[in-house]
Amino acid sequence: MDGNPSRREPAARRRGESTALVTAQKSVYIKTYGCQMNVYDSDRMTDALVPLGYRETDSLDTADLVILNTCHIREKAAEKVYSELGRLRVMKEERALEGREMLVGVAGCVAQAEGQEILRRAPSVDMVFGPQSYHRLPEIMERARLGVGVVETDFDGDDKFEVVPAPARQAIRARGVTAFLTVQEGCDKFCTFCVVPYTRGAEISRPVGKVLAEAERLAAAGVREVTLLGQNVNGYHGEGPDGRPWGLGDLLRRLAEVPGLDRLRYTTSHPRDMDADLLAVHRDLPQVMPYLHLPVQSGSDRILDAMNRRHTRDDYLKLVARIRAARPDIALTSDFIVGFPGETEAEFAETLSLVEEVGFAAAYTFKYSPRPGTPAASLGDQVDEAVGSERLLRLQALVNRQQQAFSASMVGRTLEVLFEKPGRYPGQLIGRSPYLQSVVVAADAARIGTIARVTIEDIRPNSLMGHLVDAPAEAVDVAGAGGWS
Ligand code: 5AD
Ligand code: SF4
Repeated sequence: MDGNPSRREPAARRRGESTALVTAQKSVYIKTYGCQMNVYDSDRMTDALVPLGYRETDSLDTADLVILNTCHIREKAAEKVYSELGRLRVMKEERALEGREMLVGVAGCVAQAEGQEILRRAPSVDMVFGPQSYHRLPEIMERARLGVGVVETDFDGDDKFEVVPAPARQAIRARGVTAFLTVQEGCDKFCTFCVVPYTRGAEISRPVGKVLAEAERLAAAGVREVTLLGQNVNGYHGEGPDGRPWGLGDLLRRLAEVPGLDRLRYTTSHPRDMDADLLAVHRDLPQVMPYLHLPVQSGSDRILDAMNRRHTRDDYLKLVARIRAARPDIALTSDFIVGFPGETEAEFAETLSLVEEVGFAAAYTFKYSPRPGTPAASLGDQVDEAVGSERLLRLQALVNRQQQAFSASMVGRTLEVLFEKPGRYPGQLIGRSPYLQSVVVAADAARIGTIARVTIEDIRPNSLMGHLVDAPAEAVDVAGAGGWS
């Protein structure tokens, strides 16, 4: 699992279109919550709707179909869905008075976990479908139009990745020069706090040939960087062309041969599945970026055991040392939960000391949220809300200091930056460093999709500021006057 926020803007804005252009056709508005896999799934839903004449829009007001692609990982994420559904009910009633259709669908992990309950709490919803059902969207919509709420949460064993039509080259390009590619789904680890094994199901890995075909399609459309996704991505064991299961290291080696794919990333990894081959790939393959999201959750052995993490603090620290031996400059990031049931102040202090010991480039910190149906939710000894909040603040302060120190260590260095999109001010572009930092540079829009050397001059809370190494001095001055904030 992964705490990284989704990196995606509304579709029409990415395409640089005014929303007025989109209203002539049937349009779908998809609101994506949660992890990157939901971002990937939302794009697949859009692809599944293309044959029905739908086009993605970022204008909720005019959409004929609205889908909330939801996240169930913490209570807050799930509750947001119900407040959004309240708003949609009002819009739908207004539309009905005008004689216009507005179908409402709830997809993703809340749909999977709550199914029928969603129709009970929000009767204006037309269809509820889980992450394993979106390839049947055309048929689900047909049934929903008959006026009975549809609930589809079965794991039917279809290869949904193959059923959904591949996006056209133009659609891929419109989504940008970086792309997500799901290679593995589900989780067999059963951490005691986590809903994922229930909402996403058992681990499955897509065959190497299918992943390769998708990666080649992306590269041919101009994608330069692919992030392989899986809830437990480094547990990947897809069938190889030789009929044997291939590990993630094998897959990355093969993908590194795809012309045009200059950068490869993957997320999210479990410490138990970080094998020697994957470390060798980080050591040997320049295409594999020096960045690794490796959630540890806690620094206390007792809590790690209660979480059923299947590794100790020492296992994690030794693994970090091996990773750094393979790739000394690697940026490590992690996820942490504070206030797990029974966590004492001394155990929380062990989390702080682990953070001090490792030194993270960034980290995502969460207050424990009991999730119905998970083993930890029925443990006694739930930590007091106020205590949890206070621990969260202390951990966040430490993590922020480390993130700033990591950014500051980039000043004066020259990094290779992949330019992704225009910046906030004219003449600026935003790109990514190998360490996944946002880098703001004065450069011509023609550079989008190219990689260039950038010297870092300054840092901002969430980005680095730099200039092109090969840019004339005047161009750099223009950027300096741009008033970055
Ligand atoms: N409460 C709080 N945080 C959680 N996470 C997963 N389940 C819970 C929960 N019940 C966090 C973990 C995971 C990240 C995606 O979300 O840190 O790695
Ligand atoms: Fe959830 Fe643990 Fe699986 Fe990650 S490894 S998805 S936290 S059960």
